[in-house]
Amino acid sequence: MKGKKTRFETEVIHAGYQESQHHGSLVPPLYQSSTFTFSNAEQGEKRFAGIEEGYVYSRLGNPTVKILEDRIAALEQSEAGLAFSSGMAAVSAVLTDLTKTGDHILCSQGIYGCTFGLLQMYEEKYAISHSFSRMDSIETLRKDIQPNTAVIYIETPINPTMKLVDLEMAVDVAREKGIPVVVDNTFCSPYLQTPITKGCDVVIHSATKFICGHGDVIAGLVAGKKEWIERIAKTTQKDMGGIISPFDAWLLLRGLKTLPIRMDRHAENAQKLFAFLKNHPKIAAVFYPGDTEHPDYHIMKQQMKQPGGLISFEVSGSKETAQQFMNELQLVKIAVSLGDAETLIQHPATMTHAVVPEIERKKMGIENTLLRLSVGLEAWEDIQDDLEQALAKI
Ligand SMILES: Cc1ncc(COP(=O)(O)O)c(C=O)c1O
Repeated sequence: MKGKKTRFETEVIHAGYQESQHHGSLVPPLYQSSTFTFSNAEQGEKRFAGIEEGYVYSRLGNPTVKILEDRIAALEQSEAGLAFSSGMAAVSAVLTDLTKTGDHILCSQGIYGCTFGLLQMYEEKYAISHSFSRMDSIETLRKDIQPNTAVIYIETPINPTMKLVDLEMAVDVAREKGIPVVVDNTFCSPYLQTPITKGCDVVIHSATKFICGHGDVIAGLVAGKKEWIERIAKTTQKDMGGIISPFDAWLLLRGLKTLPIRMDRHAENAQKLFAFLKNHPKIAAVFYPGDTEHPDYHIMKQQMKQPGGLISFEVSGSKETAQQFMNELQLVKIAVSLGDAETLIQHPATMTHAVVPEIERKKMGIENTLLRLSVGLEAWEDIQDDLEQALAKI
C-alpha cells in the first residue's frame, strides 16, 4: 500500500508506522527510554546542531511518540502532529506560542473550564485579554473581533452546551484579518470532524477522551502546519516540558485502532438516549446536535459525520434534584471525562465548569440543573434501565 492514500478506518491502524523499520514488529514498539546514545562525540554534536537526524532525549522526541504524532497528522489531514502530557498542556503550549502581552483571544461562547482558567491567568499575569462570541453569524463574529485579536479559539460542539460553530464561516471571517483559527476537536475526534479540511489552522485534542477511549491515559494532541509544529516542538513544548510519556503514546496508538468502531457505537447509543430523554416528563430540556430541532442541526450536517456521543440535559427541578438523580444511578458512573467505554455523568456547574463565575456560566447556558452525559458502549437497554429507575426516584 506504499504511497497510496487509504481510508480513515485503515489509517487509524497503519498511518505513520512501517514494520520494516522496527524489526517487523506488528505492533509499534515501546521505546521506554529517556535518552539516546550517540556512537561518538561528533554525532552528538551534529544531532544537537540539527545537521543529522536522530533521537537525542525523549523531551525532544521519541520514536513511539513520533508514530502517534504522524498518525494524528494523517487522521486530521494536516501536515504534522505533536503529542503532549495532557489536553491542557497542548492548549497552553498552543496559546502561549500564538500570543504575546497586549493580545486578545476571541473564544466561542463556552469553553472547557480549565481553558477558561488558563485565559484568566493570562489576563492577570501577562495582560493577554479574552472575550466570548456567539459566532452565530458573519456579522457577529466580525463585530466581536478586536484590533488586537491574535487567535480565534473555538470548541464545537461547545462543552457542555452542545451548541455548534460553523467552522467555514469562522475561517472566512478570520482570513479577512489574517487571524489563526484554533479548534478544540475533543468532542468529535477526527472521525467525526476534521477542522483542517475546513480551513482551520490548528486542531487540539484532549486525547484523554475518545482518542484513548479506555479511560487510562491523560494526554493531548495538536495538528497543524509542519513549520509551525516544528516551532512549538522546539519552544513551548520543549522548554515548558509538557511532553507525553512513551507508554501513554503506545496506549493511545492501541486505543486509536478501534476509534471508528467505538464512535459508531457511542453515536448509536446517544441517538437512542436522545429519543428516550426528549419526551420524558422529568426532563426539561435536551441538548444534542442530532436533534432535528437543534438550532445548529444544519451545521452538524455540514461539518460532522455524526452527532457524536455526548448529550446534555436539564432535569425538571433544582440543582438538588439533579444531584439526587446522579446519586440514584447505579450503572452510570458519576465522573468527569468523556469518551470512555463506561457511561459517565457529571454536573458542569459544580464540576468541569465550577471555576467559571455563575454569571458567565449562565451566559454560556450552563444552568444548575444541567447534566452532561458521555454515552458509553454498554448495551443500550441497560443504560436505559438505569436512567429510568433513577428518574423514577426524583
Ligand atoms: C473540550 C476539552 N478540552 C480540553 C480538555 C483538557 O484535557 P485534559 O484533561 O486531557 O488536560 C478537556 C478535558 O475535559 C475537554 O473536555
